[in-house]
Amino acid sequence: MRRTIDWADGAVVIIDQTALPGEYRLLELRTVDELVDAVKRLAVRGAPALGAAGALGVALAARRGGDVEQAAEVIATARPTAVNLAWGVQRALGKLGEGADAVLAEALALLDEDERLNKTASRHAAEIVLAECPRRPLRLLSHCNAGRLATVGWGTALGVVWHLHERGLVEEVLVDETRPLLQGARLTAWELAQAAVPYRVQPDSAAAAAMARGLVDCVLVGADRIAANGDVANKIGTYGLAIAARYHGVPFVVVAPSSTVDSKLGDGAGIAIEERDARELTHYAGVPITPPDADVFNPAFDVTPYDLVTAVVTEHGRLTP
Ligand code: MRU
Repeated sequence: MRRTIDWADGAVVIIDQTALPGEYRLLELRTVDELVDAVKRLAVRGAPALGAAGALGVALAARRGGDVEQAAEVIATARPTAVNLAWGVQRALGKLGEGADAVLAEALALLDEDERLNKTASRHAAEIVLAECPRRPLRLLSHCNAGRLATVGWGTALGVVWHLHERGLVEEVLVDETRPLLQGARLTAWELAQAAVPYRVQPDSAAAAAMARGLVDCVLVGADRIAANGDVANKIGTYGLAIAARYHGVPFVVVAPSSTVDSKLGDGAGIAIEERDARELTHYAGVPITPPDADVFNPAFDVTPYDLVTAVVTEHGRLTP
């Protein structure tokens, strides 16, 4: 299976996530402007994939010359919440003194690590899920997309599903559609279908009802930034899921590579939350659905207090705040 984001012939090549599931197409990004635009439009998205985009963006800038540090700043701030983006930028920038080839080599090393670390993190998380949830086979609930498409390869929360499915332990995955950009309905469902894992898409607002009906053994989500105390920023709606999971006694497991941990931040209150364009809510597939000029509240992420989390799991195992 090809990587979500890669380097080929002097360009960054991504699977265009705005086109899935209707069309599987690749985009070649040859300039920093094109890369930043792809990040802002969510053509490439998901915290670990954004880390790769950050590093490869600096590699593009370094090969083209000019003010690489300034280009790096533009890339790092294209989206504010996932710490991986700035982390990937800094990691590649650290090699600038050794020349453009060294920057690219560092970015490619980061890409190689991604799949390995996510596989390890999700293997640890699969063991925790098996220990926390007695029922077999398992009914899992997923929010947003934390699969291959959100990483260079393999995935984080969905990576747990791949491990468990390999062992015949998954009955179904309930897929939150993930309003307003439908990463669950479009991307997670597509990945599960490709892997022949049974799934059902549900509106985000059905998640608590599914738990109340006893349809969910465990909630699995990824993360965009994890503070030192274990608070977790992830796709909007994650916090509500965690509250519902606690109320219904359902384990709530967060899976991420350690590059998502921002140990400089004491707690989640300091995490910058991206607010997105009003049109994502005032329009549906280009058609207006609200009164003209309706005001909106459209945060792309929320923060779940660590209190509500059963385990935050990285490649090092269960994270201790
Ligand atoms: O706005 P997005 O699609 O980039 O948001 C992605 C998420 O919230 C994911 O759950 C998170 O990045 C973890 S991906 C392994």
